[in-house]
Amino acid sequence: MLPYLGSHYGNPSSLHRYGRRSERALRQGRLQIAGIVNASPAEILITSGATESNNTAISGAAALHPGGHIITSAIEHDAVLEPCARLESAGFSVSYVPVGGDGIIDPDDVQRAVTDRTFLASVMLANNEVGTVQPISEISRICREHGILLHTDAVQAVGKISVDVNRLGVDMLSMSSHKINGPKGVGALYIRSGVRIMPMILGGGQEGGMRSGTENVAGVVGFGKACQMARDDARRLHMMQLRDLLVEMVLKEIPYTTYNGNRNQRIPDNAHFTFLGVSGEDLIIKLDEEGIAASTGSACSIRTQKESHVLRAMGLDHEHITGSLRLTVGVHNTRQEMVQAAGALKKVVAQLRAVSPFKEKYRFG
Ligand SMILES: Cc1ncc(COP(=O)(O)O)c(C=O)c1O
Repeated sequence: MLPYLGSHYGNPSSLHRYGRRSERALRQGRLQIAGIVNASPAEILITSGATESNNTAISGAAALHPGGHIITSAIEHDAVLEPCARLESAGFSVSYVPVGGDGIIDPDDVQRAVTDRTFLASVMLANNEVGTVQPISEISRICREHGILLHTDAVQAVGKISVDVNRLGVDMLSMSSHKINGPKGVGALYIRSGVRIMPMILGGGQEGGMRSGTENVAGVVGFGKACQMARDDARRLHMMQLRDLLVEMVLKEIPYTTYNGNRNQRIPDNAHFTFLGVSGEDLIIKLDEEGIAASTGSACSIRTQKESHVLRAMGLDHEHITGSLRLTVGVHNTRQEMVQAAGALKKVVAQLRAVSPFKEKYRFG
C-alpha cells in the first residue's frame, strides 16, 4: 500500500502514466477482491466498508421498488437494520424473521414472510456476535422461486469460511477489508451481473456510475492483498483449532459458564460465552489489564451501551446477556496465547464473582 500513499499519487481516472499506474493497481485489487467470493471483477463495487455496502444494496434496490416489502432478520448488524428502519418510515414494510435459541434462522420463516410486494431479502451470512452461519443457499432457493433479490452481509464470513456467490445464489454481498487483516475504511459490494440497483452517490461517474468519487487506491491495494492472503485453508484451520482449544479450556475451568450459538454452523474464529454473575463490561476492563482484547456486543455498538438485540432474539434473559463475552482469535494468535487467555479469564471471573451480588444465588466456589 505504501507507494500508493506516497510516490504513486496518480489519480486512476487520469490518462497520463501516473494515472494509468494507479488504474492498474485498482484493477489488480478488484481482481483479488472478486476472487475471494468467486465473482468477476466487473461485479465488484468498491465502497468505504460494509456499512456503505449494506446501505447501497438495500436503499439502492428500494429506490426501484417504492412502497415495497423487505425481509430481513432479527439478528442483523445495525448497518442493515438502520437503513431498513429508515425505509419503514418512508412507507416501505419490513419483516424481521426470528432466530432459534442457537442463533440460526429457519428458512421456512423466510418463506412465510414473503408477500406479493416483497422485492428484497437481506440476511447475513455470519453473525458478528455469536458467529452463527445462516442457511443462505436455502433462503436463496426461496427468493429465486418468488423473484426476490437476495442480499447477504458477509463481512464476518469472507476469509473465514469458503464464500462463493454462485454456490450461495446471492444477488448482492457485502464485505469489509479490515475483517480480514486489511486496512480500515474500504470494502466492497458484489452485485451480480444483470442486477439493477440505483446508485446512492452521484458525481463524476467512477465505478461504472455506481459510486462516484476518486477511488481509495491504497485501500483497494491493501484489501486486494488481504483477500489474496485470506484464501488459505490452513489459516482457517489454525483459527478453528485455537478457538476450539480456548472453548474447551474455558468450559472446563470456569463453572457457571455457557457457550452461546450453534457449535457447528459457526465461523472458525468466534467464541461467545456467558459467565453468570458477572458483567461483560467489567470482564473487558479486567481482561484489558491482562493484555487481552475482548468484546461484548458488536464492536460498533459497544459505546451505545445497548443490550444485544442478537442475544435477546436468541431468547437469552437479561442476566445471561449481561454476563456475555465475545472472544475472537486471529490468524496471528498462538496456542500459548489461548492458554494465557483462558488462565486470565479464570482469574478475573473469580475476582468479579467474589464481589458479585449474585454470590449467594449461585454459591460460586
Ligand atoms: C456483520 C457486520 N456488518 C457490517 C459491519 C460494518 O462494517 P464497517 O464498519 O466496515 O462498515 C460490521 C462491522 O463490525 C459487521 O460485523
